[in-house]
Amino acid sequence: MSDEELKIYVTDLEGKNHEIPALEGWRVMEIIRDYGLPIKAECGGACSCATCHVHIDEEWIDKLYPPSEEEEDMLDMAYDVDDSSRLSCQIIMTPELNGLKLRLAPIMDA
Ligand code: FES
Repeated sequence: MSDEELKIYVTDLEGKNHEIPALEGWRVMEIIRDYGLPIKAECGGACSCATCHVHIDEEWIDKLYPPSEEEEDMLDMAYDVDDSSRLSCQIIMTPELNGLKLRLAPIMDA
């Protein structure tokens, strides 16, 4: 465990940027939710709702491990999906991801 303070940068739906403290081993979805930004994450991180959809900043896409088949299947059901789309509950915070930048995806109200 390093004492280095980890953070991620999140752009919310209004285009506001937030620097958010992050903890190693936490899901990025949990980090965003605990900070208080509006991320639905209905299934609580079980990869079965797609309401934790985010767009990853281009320079970070290749630094993440690729999505699992389950994640890809779930993303197929999300709204506004593109090559930068990921489910934030499937990204676990590590020191290598310090400074990760992403944007919240619009939430479709059911
Ligand atoms: S929280 Fe449901 S898929 Fe991520």
